[in-house]
Amino acid sequence: MTIRAARTADIPAIQGIELAAGEAFRSIGLADIADDDPPSAAELTAHIRNGGALVAVDGTDTPVAYLLVEALGGRAHIEQVSVHPSHARRGLGARLIEVADAWADAHGLAGLTLTTFADVPWNAPYYARLGFAVLPDDAVDAALRERVREEEAHGLGLAEWPRVVMARGASAP
Ligand SMILES: CC(C)(COP(=O)(O)OP(=O)(O)OC[C@H]1O[C@@H](n2cnc3c(N)ncnc32)[C@H](O)[C@@H]1OP(=O)(O)O)[C@@H](O)C(=O)NCCC(=O)NCCS
Repeated sequence: MTIRAARTADIPAIQGIELAAGEAFRSIGLADIADDDPPSAAELTAHIRNGGALVAVDGTDTPVAYLLVEALGGRAHIEQVSVHPSHARRGLGARLIEVADAWADAHGLAGLTLTTFADVPWNAPYYARLGFAVLPDDAVDAALRERVREEEAHGLGLAEWPRVVMARGASAP
């Protein structure tokens, strides 16, 4: 499986991956998350222009997983990582995150951050296995805090499903 920078022609495939990967949330009662729209073409185009959209492609150069990473408050923030269920649990998510690490290094950014659900098995526990740690509140900078607020405004602030900010690398606790 090759990992390469995404191109605008990949946008429909990326949106398809997001919808398919999101279905897992339905099985734990988070139908609203499963029903969320995938990232818009405009949003994906911006990430592609910044070089922060990565895809893992199969033998026919069709994307089966993707990751979006961007500079945020001096660190590299993983905005999204999703693997098509047909290719899940083969290490692709972990490989994409390694490439995001290299992206952070290349951009002089100190480590990776992300926001995720604390108690969804393939969210915070998965990232903890990959070496991420929950950032305590006083280590969450203004840019990350604003990102969390934006996500809450978009329906991710669910009382029964707390979110956490996690980090890996130089700036992790
Ligand atoms: C999270 C995700 C990117 C992981 O990608 P992946 O390529 O399947 O993961 P890897 O192969 O690197 O690692 C596999 C590990 O992930 C975790 N995992 C993946 N799917 C899981 C599931 N359905 N239930 C529980 N744990 C799961 C397990 O720890 C698993 O290890 P195991 O197979 O030994 O049990 C993928 O499951 C996904 O796209 N999920 C839906 C979208 C999502 O939640 N994205 C993250 C938003 S913050």
